[in-house]
Amino acid sequence: MRKPLIAGNWKMFKTTAEAKDFAESFKKLYVSSDIQVAVCAPFTQLKTLKEAFQGTDIKVGAQNMHFAEEGAYTGEISAAMLKEIGVDYCIIGHSERRQFFAETNDTVNKKLHKAFSTGIVPIMCVGESLEERDAEAAFEVVKSQMAAGLKDITAEQAQSLVIAYEPVWAIGTGRTASPEQANEMCGFIRDIIEELYDDDVADKIVIQYGGSVKSSNAADIMNMEEIDGALVGGASLVPEEFIQIVNF
Ligand code: G3P
Repeated sequence: MRKPLIAGNWKMFKTTAEAKDFAESFKKLYVSSDIQVAVCAPFTQLKTLKEAFQGTDIKVGAQNMHFAEEGAYTGEISAAMLKEIGVDYCIIGHSERRQFFAETNDTVNKKLHKAFSTGIVPIMCVGESLEERDAEAAFEVVKSQMAAGLKDITAEQAQSLVIAYEPVWAIGTGRTASPEQANEMCGFIRDIIEELYDDDVADKIVIQYGGSVKSSNAADIMNMEEIDGALVGGASLVPEEFIQIVNF
């Protein structure tokens, strides 16, 4: 049985003081359940969150990392640095990084290898743009992101992978993919995993939906058969809103 994962992606929001406030309020509202909860925060807030969530089962994730072990890469953060402070997850290949920071399927693949070898669970993002959906190329685009991103990733590694299907046109737009559209693509992603590996891996892999998830639509999305969780942007910034999504 897959354990669903609901993760917040704070993007470039919240100072340390704001992160502490969030954690204190969220902990008061949170009751542990069979849903895994995580918060993916800016680098400077990761240690604060790890400390604040100590003694709970709430996990902490980063939003990016470099694929090299170490080196002259000004401004970058390595997987070992994240691991040292106990980071559990790392979002890899978010569409904002693909769009604004030249992330490619190849860098996504390199980062996946590094995350796995460091013991960090990658949340690999895939998803089509509006033009691609309108051109009926959504499935093809997602398939090629999957195949290239997972190049030489073993079945053993793949079974602990999290995939987030985030159609670019639904991110921060208020426009959500319908639960059926999201479910169809998540099912397609599971089929690709089965093709690339086998049905055992496909069965184990957690596939989230992301894009304008809020308390009002969380249940409709989460109740779909192929969807094992959500990657939540804006609505994860407010404890009272995020908890309603977690408790959908
Ligand atoms: O990674 C989460 C994401 O990109 C969706 O953002 O604000 O539409 O929930 P948002």
